[in-house]
Amino acid sequence: MKVTVFGIGYVGLVQAAVLAEVGHEVMCIDVDAKKVENLKNGVIPIFEPGLTPLVKKNYEEGRLQFSTDAELGVHHGEMQFIAVGTPPDEDGSADLKYVTAVARTIAQHMTSHKVVLDKSTVPVGTADKVRSVMEETLKARGVDISFDVVSNPEFLKEGAAVSDCMRPERIVIGTDNEDVVDLLRELYEPFNRNHDRMILMDIRSAELTKYAANCMLATKISFMNEISNLAERLGADIEKVRMGIGSDSRIGYSFIYPGCGYGGSCFPKDVQALIRTAQQIGYTPRILQAVEEVNHDQKLKLPEFISRHFGEDLKGKTFALWGLSFKPNTDDMREASSRVLMEALWERGAQVQAYDPEAMDETQRIYGHRSDLKLMGTKEAALQDADALVICTEWQSFRAPDFDAIKKSLKQPVIFDGRNLYDPERLSKRGFVYYAIGRGA
Ligand code: UGA
Repeated sequence: MKVTVFGIGYVGLVQAAVLAEVGHEVMCIDVDAKKVENLKNGVIPIFEPGLTPLVKKNYEEGRLQFSTDAELGVHHGEMQFIAVGTPPDEDGSADLKYVTAVARTIAQHMTSHKVVLDKSTVPVGTADKVRSVMEETLKARGVDISFDVVSNPEFLKEGAAVSDCMRPERIVIGTDNEDVVDLLRELYEPFNRNHDRMILMDIRSAELTKYAANCMLATKISFMNEISNLAERLGADIEKVRMGIGSDSRIGYSFIYPGCGYGGSCFPKDVQALIRTAQQIGYTPRILQAVEEVNHDQKLKLPEFISRHFGEDLKGKTFALWGLSFKPNTDDMREASSRVLMEALWERGAQVQAYDPEAMDETQRIYGHRSDLKLMGTKEAALQDADALVICTEWQSFRAPDFDAIKKSLKQPVIFDGRNLYDPERLSKRGFVYYAIGRGA
C-alpha cells in the first residue's frame, strides 16, 4: 500500500520504517530540510536501537522516501499519517498547530479520497478539528472530495520503539466509518498475525485510550514513589514492598519501580494535557493532579538527600553524575530527572562531572555553555576527585561497577542512587554511605 507520513519525529520515523520493512511504499514528509537531507544520507536524528539499519535498508531498497515536498506526499499515499509534534502550550494543553497545518496541507492538495490517520497523541476532539479544517479548505478550493479521519494512537516506548512497533500489543483504531476498517486491516496485516490485536472503537474513545494508558502508567509510578516516601519514614524497604505487591497478578511487576521521578516526552506532557482537558470541561482530575505533584517532588529527592548529607551550601563540591537521559537506551533528555538534579546542584554552587552512554551530545547541546558542568568520556573518569556519586538513570553498565575503584576515586564514599541499583547492606559493609529511594537512608 502507499502510505505518507507527515512528521519525521520519533513516532513518524519509526512507524514509517516499520511499514516500509513489511513492504509498504512509504513517503515521509517534514518541513525540516536538513533532517530530510540527513536521512537520505543515512544520518538518523535520534538514537533508537535497531532504527538506523532499518531506515538505511528500506531507503536504499526504495520503499522509504524522504521529502519536504508536501504536495508530493499528499499525492503519494491513500493513507496519510499525521505524526507531527504536539508540544505543550504554556498552560500544559497540547498545541495542535502542527496537526491542523498538516490537515490543511492534505486538503489543499488532495485530488482523490484519503484516509487521514492521527498518530500523534492528540486531545479528545482533535479528529473533529482535523475534519473541520479539511472540510473548510476543500470548500475554499470549491471541490468535493471525500476523506476519512481515523484515530490510530501509537504506543511505542523509546528505547524499544522498533520492536514495539513491529510487535504491537494492540492496534487501536477509532473510526466512525466501517468502510475504512478493511483498508486498515490490510495496512496492519503483517503486524496482526496469530491473534487479532486490532481494537476497534469510536474516534473519541481511541483518542482517550492513549491518554488513559499513559496516565495509568504514570499513576502507578507516582503511587509507588509516594509509598517509597512512606517506606523511608517508616523504616521499611520499598524494594521488598515492590516485590510483595507485584506478585499479585492484578497489580503486576511492571511500572512499579520507585525512582527519582518519571520523565520523557510523554508522561509529563500527557498527564498535564489530560488535566487541562478535564479542567476545560469543568472537571477537577484530583488523581492526575496528585500524580503530577508527586512526580515534581520526586525529582527533588536526590537534591534533598544531598543537602541532608552535605548541607545547603555546596560551593567547592563536585558531584559525579551517572545517567543523563530520562531512561536507559535513549539519548532523550526531555523532562529528565538529571536536569532537575544538575540545576539544583548548580544553584547551590556545586560542580558536576557527568557521564551517560548515549546522551553526551544532547547534554552538550543543552548545557554546553555551563562552566560548572564537565562531560566525561567514561563513568570512571566522572568519578575522579568528586565528593560523591549520584545516579539518575539505570543504564545496564552502572549495575555492577567496581566499588573499590569508586571508593578510591571519590573523595568520600557516598552514593546517592535515584534508581535503587544496589544492595544497601552490601554497600554499607563496603564502607559506603548509600542513599536510595524508599530504603530508609
Ligand atoms: C511511554 C509509554 O510507556 C509508551 O507506551 C507510550 O507509547 C509512550 O510513552 C508515548 O506516549 O509515546 P516512554 O516515554 O518512551 O513511553 O518511556 P517509559 O518507558 O514509559 O518510561 C517513562 C518514565 O517512567 C521514565 O523516566 C522511567 O524511568 C520512568 N519509570 C518507568 C519509573 O520511574 N518507574 C517504572 O516502574 C517505570
